[in-house]
Amino acid sequence: MVKPHLSLVLLSLAATAVQGQVRTASPDTRNQVTVDIHEGRLYYSVQRDGRPLLMPSLLGFEFRGAPTLRDSLRIVDTTRQTVDETWTQPWGEVAHVRDHHNELKVSVAETASPNRQFTLAVRVFNDGVGFRYEFPDQPNLKDFEIQEELTEFSFVDDARAWWIPSNRPRLDRSEMLYSSSPLSRLDSVQTPLTLETRDGRTVMVIHEANLVDYARMFLNGPREQSRTLRAALAPWRDGTKVRGQTPFVTPCRTIQIADRVTDLAPSLLGLKLNPPSVIPNTSWIKPMKYVGIWWGMHINTMTWSSGPKHGATTANTKRYIDFAAANGFGGVLVEGWNVGWDGDWIQNRDAFSFTKPYPDYDLAGLAQYAHSKGVQLIVHNETSGGIENYERQMDSAYALYHSLGLDAIKSGYVTDFVGQGDSHYGQYMVRHHRHVLEMAAKYGIMMDVHEPIHDTGERRTYPNMMSREGARGQEYNAWSGEGGNPPEHETILFFTRLLAGPMDFTPGIFDILRENTGPRRRLDEPRVRTTVAKQLALYVVIYSPLQMAADLPENYEHKPAFQFIKDVAVDWDTTRVLEGKIGDYVVVARKERNKPSWFIGAITDEEARTFDIPLSFLTPGRRYVAEIYADGPGADWATNPTPVTISQRPVTSLTRLHLALARGGGQAIRIRPAR
Ligand code: NOJ
Ligand code: CA
Repeated sequence: MVKPHLSLVLLSLAATAVQGQVRTASPDTRNQVTVDIHEGRLYYSVQRDGRPLLMPSLLGFEFRGAPTLRDSLRIVDTTRQTVDETWTQPWGEVAHVRDHHNELKVSVAETASPNRQFTLAVRVFNDGVGFRYEFPDQPNLKDFEIQEELTEFSFVDDARAWWIPSNRPRLDRSEMLYSSSPLSRLDSVQTPLTLETRDGRTVMVIHEANLVDYARMFLNGPREQSRTLRAALAPWRDGTKVRGQTPFVTPCRTIQIADRVTDLAPSLLGLKLNPPSVIPNTSWIKPMKYVGIWWGMHINTMTWSSGPKHGATTANTKRYIDFAAANGFGGVLVEGWNVGWDGDWIQNRDAFSFTKPYPDYDLAGLAQYAHSKGVQLIVHNETSGGIENYERQMDSAYALYHSLGLDAIKSGYVTDFVGQGDSHYGQYMVRHHRHVLEMAAKYGIMMDVHEPIHDTGERRTYPNMMSREGARGQEYNAWSGEGGNPPEHETILFFTRLLAGPMDFTPGIFDILRENTGPRRRLDEPRVRTTVAKQLALYVVIYSPLQMAADLPENYEHKPAFQFIKDVAVDWDTTRVLEGKIGDYVVVARKERNKPSWFIGAITDEEARTFDIPLSFLTPGRRYVAEIYADGPGADWATNPTPVTISQRPVTSLTRLHLALARGGGQAIRIRPAR
């Protein structure tokens, strides 16, 4: 039987026809990628609307014990394909994702010994570009060790970059404040790296997708005033970057492209470059809001360790469960429940048990009590980087949690180096995190990972990968000596870290003045540097399917503004960024999943600002009520952070709302159908 003719979607060209340049463009034709051999080396370049964004940028690898794979290359084949498919997310910042792209696969081979070959697979979307290397099984490339990936990003423009560093000693972490500078001045930075061209016409975000069995990518800054960033990989402890054997594919290197920063979110490019879900039935995976025995430890009113201030006691946990049940929260996180926290828990990391509770914590009884109240305990697993200790116990621990009906874990990796001296971000840890996800899926457990590797879209394949930290969260506002997060922090996060995926930021601190009032008051003391209204707005601005109400329950009692935290959704049909400037402000509207209500979150940096927001996204002809939580009279993050004015007004799709935000302030709005 003759197979159906596929020439419309798949076109294979003979080698002779493709020497020189090959090109493909996005479905809307605006983004174009050219792949080219020049003096035996392979390059790619990117154009938008005919203007170059990336000049020819080198591709290749250095291996241990084998020649560099970079020279004497020729194109031997190309194939093309167009894909247009839409899938429904089990949960997310949008319900449906359309993956519409043109793919160009360019197979290249060395013309001299050892005659290795690989394919550069490029996908061009309306919102950007992704490419990866694919190594087929071949006689002269079997087992290999990558010493360096030679991928470059050669920018035409000296665009402004928003960055956190990647190569500082003892700072193998993402919990840092952002800086901005022209890309020619970058040293070594983490991704997502957001870049705005000097003429303001284009924004680009460099990141990666589908990191499965490889090392995390950083970017090394330009040499000698150039504008070329180079991929750098987090090492194994012996300095090797990646170990593998063919057939092998690398993660995708991604370049998100937009005309303005407000078009960057929701950022879905990375999801499109990950394989579909491997979990057949996702009905047990549920976004939720949660409270927890947590902030008390960070402000020193409770301890993780045993003793008189132990937070994770049976009685205290019951109090939190009752509070969660009374206010409609799905989960209660309990940190410090398990044996191992006494003494220096980072030094003693191998003493952590993940099955043995402290004697004053009735794990099984509390799991049952929570169930009876319709609430879930979120199990805390702090590893302190003791990977082997954790991996030894994972199977029995997850089996225990599953037997108790516990379906969510918050994990942690607080330490400078994990395992026997490995980076948090090398292939060793990439493999560990994947192992955790697989094991969690097997036992029906959702994950919230702190001190994680950056998000590369894993949640598409493993929808139990709910949220992660991976940036300076609210905890920094609790500690002395760390300086806290400045008012602009979340207005940068939105356009950088949050483009990678959800973040467990833990908003909702109401007791902002804590210990920072009275004659001893000093502005550099630990405290939350926002107004209360901004804390509310963060539930809409910062997307996470697990959203914590982070303050102590007693700080919410009798606070009318708490109603917003009770009402706000955690799962969305649609997301629209209405206003935004990196480091200055963001206004986001999101429609609740399968419900008619919309929520708006607006935040600003240390400047007061006003916005006029047309509600044209509402259903025309329908009557709604806007419940508005605004900065109250005299509100100011530094001097008077607590006043919130709550008001209601009828609105329709024709209404323009006037928003006034205090210095360091915000506004949170629920728009529900009128009854
Ligand atoms: C750091 C995490 O970010 C925080 O949420 C947690 O409480 C501590 N580690 C202890 O695990
Ligand atoms: Ca942390």
